[in-house]
Amino acid sequence: MKPSVQGVREGTMRVVHWLDERFGASELLGPLAKKKEVPVHKHTFWYYLGGMVLFLFILQVSTGVLLLFYYRPSAEGAYESVQFLMSDVRFGWLIRSIHAWGANLMIFMMFVHLFSVFLLKAYRKPRELTWMTGMALFGVVLGLGFTGYLLPWNTLSYFATRVGTEIPGVLPVVGHFLLTVMRGGDDVTGATLTRFYALHVSVLPGLCFLIISLHVFLVQRHGMSVPPSVARAGGPKGSVKFFPNFLLHDLMGWLAMLACLASLAAFLPAHLGTKADPFGSAPAGIKPEWYFMFMFETLKLLPSYIFGIAGDIVGIVGFGLVGALLFLVPFIDRGESRTVSRVWTAAGMAMILYIVAFTVLGYLVSGAPGT
Ligand code: HEM
Repeated sequence: MKPSVQGVREGTMRVVHWLDERFGASELLGPLAKKKEVPVHKHTFWYYLGGMVLFLFILQVSTGVLLLFYYRPSAEGAYESVQFLMSDVRFGWLIRSIHAWGANLMIFMMFVHLFSVFLLKAYRKPRELTWMTGMALFGVVLGLGFTGYLLPWNTLSYFATRVGTEIPGVLPVVGHFLLTVMRGGDDVTGATLTRFYALHVSVLPGLCFLIISLHVFLVQRHGMSVPPSVARAGGPKGSVKFFPNFLLHDLMGWLAMLACLASLAAFLPAHLGTKADPFGSAPAGIKPEWYFMFMFETLKLLPSYIFGIAGDIVGIVGFGLVGALLFLVPFIDRGESRTVSRVWTAAGMAMILYIVAFTVLGYLVSGAPGT
């Protein structure tokens, strides 16, 4: 006999009730779900982006675990294991392509999330730690992108990693130490692959999970901010309940993102190229992933010496200082002075323009992504 819809619903409710009696989740989360409201105003759209990044993180962990069933982390076997996965494993190509596209989309959405909360001034009191945990996540996620890129051990990823690890190597005093720690020796070898693998599948995802938990806890603790421009114009139009209204919109966005990712993976699957040959010469036009391009291009265009100091060093220290200033922005722009606030808004716009212009310039000079 076929079970009726009513029967399935009652059965499910009985199981949920049984579990709830033991865990007490409704007692703990019920008041939170009932209380949490999301303000509605002309910038509400931007509140969906953090959740989108969260969804992409969950997807990356899920597809990454599946890839681990076949991947072999050694200079002798990595390329061949990915090749096997792409050609012989059923749907292996799809999982790898979703993981590769998902990484790019996650980083893109994180850039947009970062700059949207920046321009909406959501870092101000009491959200200083929400912002700072966000900045930490930004660093960790870029680290995941950098370490993951080497894992297929193909020509492009091998030489891009060589160039990428050379960059901190130019710093005085600590440079050589940083380079050898990153590479596990003087050159990019199987030892580098082992290190990057450990970081990529264990250390960085673990850190990411911990910091995301803290970040999302803080978001729940303080609720969503109301941007100062909306507050000045008389406050939000109203609010919607987080559960279920806002969450349902979130889920619709996640579903659209999944469809978008699946289409990208199906029509433009990730390619593998040729196996890395550490003794071969670097192909022309070696370049990093798009999210590092603006920094790479800046370093390339700087003159050899600026005021007697090597241009590379000035560039790296400059990016470090901008990162530190951004990290500390909640303590500099506290919302007490309109002039300070306007300066930071202008700085945010200038940073966005700079990143876009130098990324485009990088590709115009060295060819399209992935070529
Ligand atoms: C793995 C990366 C990240 C995840 C999973 C994540 C997740 C979230 C979620 C779910 C929210 C609530 C919804 C929203 O306002 O969009 C949020 C809010 C927030 N995030 Fe993130 N985030 C990440 C990275 C970042 C970064 C890079 C920054 C900036 C440095 C940042 C700063 C903030 C701030 C300030 C809020 C509060 C917004 C408000 O109250 O209006 N987050 N994040």
